[in-house]
Amino acid sequence: MDYWKDEVNMNLQDRNNMESYFYFKDEEREVCFKRHDTPTPWINYLTNGTFHTILSQAGGGLAFYRSPQIWRISRYRFFHLPTDRPGPYIYIRDGALGEYWSPAYEPVEKKLDSWSSAHGMGYTRFQAAKDGVNSELTYFVGELENSLIWNLKIKNNSSKTKQLSIFAYVEFGMMEFMRELQWQCYNKHQVSVEYLEEWGSLVYKYGVEMQPKPDETPLVYFTADRIPDGFDGDREEFVGSYRSEANPNAIEQGSCSNSTLAGGDPCGALQFNISLDPGEEQTLNIFLGTGMTEEDIRKSIENSRRDTFVEESFIKLKENWESYLGKLQCTLPDKETERMVNTWNPYQAQRNFLFSRNISFYATGTFRGVGFRDTSQDILSQIPFDINASKDKIKLLLGQQYKDGHVNHYFFPTEGWEPVTTIHSDDHLWPVWSVWSVVMESGDLSFLDEKVTYYDGGEAAIYEHLQKALEYTKSHLGPNGFPLMLRSDWNDQLFRVCRKGKGESIWTSMQYGVMLTKMAELARLMGKIEDAAAFMSTFQQQKELVNSIAWDGKWFRRAVMDDGRFLGTDEHDQAKIWLNAQTWAVMSQMADKDKSFAAMNSVKEMLDTELGIKKIHPSITDFPDPKDPLTNYNPGTGENGAVFCHANTWAIIAECLLGRGDIAYKYYRQLIPEIAMKKAGVWRYKAEPYVYASNLFGPESDRFGLANVSWLSGTAAWMYIAVTQYMLGIRSQWEGLLIDPCLPVQWKQAKIDRKFRECNYEIEIINESGVKKGIMSIEVDGEIQTSNIIKHKNGRERAVVKVIMG
Ligand code: GLC
Repeated sequence: MDYWKDEVNMNLQDRNNMESYFYFKDEEREVCFKRHDTPTPWINYLTNGTFHTILSQAGGGLAFYRSPQIWRISRYRFFHLPTDRPGPYIYIRDGALGEYWSPAYEPVEKKLDSWSSAHGMGYTRFQAAKDGVNSELTYFVGELENSLIWNLKIKNNSSKTKQLSIFAYVEFGMMEFMRELQWQCYNKHQVSVEYLEEWGSLVYKYGVEMQPKPDETPLVYFTADRIPDGFDGDREEFVGSYRSEANPNAIEQGSCSNSTLAGGDPCGALQFNISLDPGEEQTLNIFLGTGMTEEDIRKSIENSRRDTFVEESFIKLKENWESYLGKLQCTLPDKETERMVNTWNPYQAQRNFLFSRNISFYATGTFRGVGFRDTSQDILSQIPFDINASKDKIKLLLGQQYKDGHVNHYFFPTEGWEPVTTIHSDDHLWPVWSVWSVVMESGDLSFLDEKVTYYDGGEAAIYEHLQKALEYTKSHLGPNGFPLMLRSDWNDQLFRVCRKGKGESIWTSMQYGVMLTKMAELARLMGKIEDAAAFMSTFQQQKELVNSIAWDGKWFRRAVMDDGRFLGTDEHDQAKIWLNAQTWAVMSQMADKDKSFAAMNSVKEMLDTELGIKKIHPSITDFPDPKDPLTNYNPGTGENGAVFCHANTWAIIAECLLGRGDIAYKYYRQLIPEIAMKKAGVWRYKAEPYVYASNLFGPESDRFGLANVSWLSGTAAWMYIAVTQYMLGIRSQWEGLLIDPCLPVQWKQAKIDRKFRECNYEIEIINESGVKKGIMSIEVDGEIQTSNIIKHKNGRERAVVKVIMG
């Protein structure tokens, strides 16, 4: 059955037929789509770090320059029907037939003779054929110009000459999305679209007063590799009244009206009339880009019209991704895991590093700048790939720290707005892990001496910034001796039970424990022995509290509420057990051995499901006070009893630390998006099968398995860390590369190529005896090692490593 041809509603069985939607082409690092009607838009990010586009498998999406909050270029109607509209659209009109269609399928939705699309690394492509016309359309953002490149190849496969009109269309929005919602009736008359005759280009100008950074606001150009035969800058002229992008008047009439706009609803539409002989193929390139001045734009257009520009840009994009992902590649017995590790997981993690939680199909890009907590964690997975960008991000974060050690919760480096200043018990502690990782990856302590200015003035070395962070926690302990919860910790919802400022976070005590140990190691490496001892003595104090006051009998408690009662105890009938308090008890190495196993056994028994581990159990309905419950999320959704994927990653790490490879693998595999989708059913799961979602509704919801907020989630960074550093067990340490795999018994072999400090390690792990953890021997270049840390050797470029587990 050709699903993309079917216009009527599918029955449930059809809607859940996963094979009918997509397949992976691993050699090309592509996910390919066979039908356009996925349950939600399945998107991709096209970007060069400055100019960005989100594009779906059906051609919907939007472009923005640097910030989606203040420099949004094209409009996207979030949450509205019809879904996934508009986008950077192409229409092909056959003059003789008077018919028109879209190669991306959207927005015309005309039945095609064949259709497919695919997302690759930084590009999205469409193939479509209708009435003897074949089109291949590829969108990407190259590094040579700040523009979205639309590369259209069009071929006449019929026996008659074709007179075609090709229309390229984009709906410009107001650049400030929030202002658009509030003030567009006035401000829309402060925008314009002009036509630069000489360059055959439309230019959109956002001249709105009171915009935050007028001097940094670009002009937008919309042009092609040739002069168009017609254009429109006024949406009303192009689309007409009571019509939509599905049936624009200009296309039905067969020509644009050459409108410009000085106030109103702007768009960019370009028309190209081409004649194609039988068998003839032509290429048309469209460019939607930015420049600060008209002069900049002229230069960009000139550059973009060079014969080799598009090809050069595409080759560079491909090469950059191959070299980026080449830092770690593996061959594994499990193809779904291999695919995630080699391609989609690091790709998603890189997009998180770039966009934080800003904009996706779910997140509207309106208020979240850079979240301190989230970005500190995103950096962790980026370090092996791009250490310089990671260092810059760490410094950006530490610039948000105050001299007393606490930090801003969100901030807006691009928009220049005031930060969100709520103080959370965990935010300031996170950078310790990222700085520690930078030092371990590079084998260089000098980063710790680099100076960063505090948010409230004065500068200090990075080491001191971290020290201040730990001191802040030490000076904000509660009556039981655990860190005060302050506004919340990692679990955002906890502010509801700690508003009076008395509540304490047991989880933050564990997080503090991890950071104290890492700081102690950094201090020792720097020769600061007294500092190291002081950190470890605080660690011991917290560890004792965790094992005594926080232990509930079968698991660790989660917090102390304002009223002095514990949260996460068997005494209550709701939210008895919280995932994070178990996983971090193990990760921090604070939990006594028997308690570690007992706590993780409770996770298995009470929180695990076939679609991931719930965050809490049972879900909350009216706890602790029916008039003021801990959360308003419906049971099983969001922060209340959902499978919160980010927190699942720590269970994988904890199980690896306990040496239980089978359980770790179960937890890992069940959340691989294509696996979870298969189990839940496509129509239930809904989100993309190639990137992680933030959460899946839990079993207490009647839509168990519904995936939410895909792409932008801490899951990306941590899943990557869990699988590469703990399951495959390859971790950078000060002396070299540690090899400490923890695998499922059925994996007899794994191969990993990892680039570490300029040396390519070609690692082969053999597990004939089927153990879950433990190493019998390690050989490096034929020499038996006495330790499972492969010592770094300056100048070595290649190391062949053979690891026998047993
Ligand atoms: C969201 C937030 C993150 C928080 C998590 C759990 O993912 O971005 O900061 O830790 O929810 O509440």
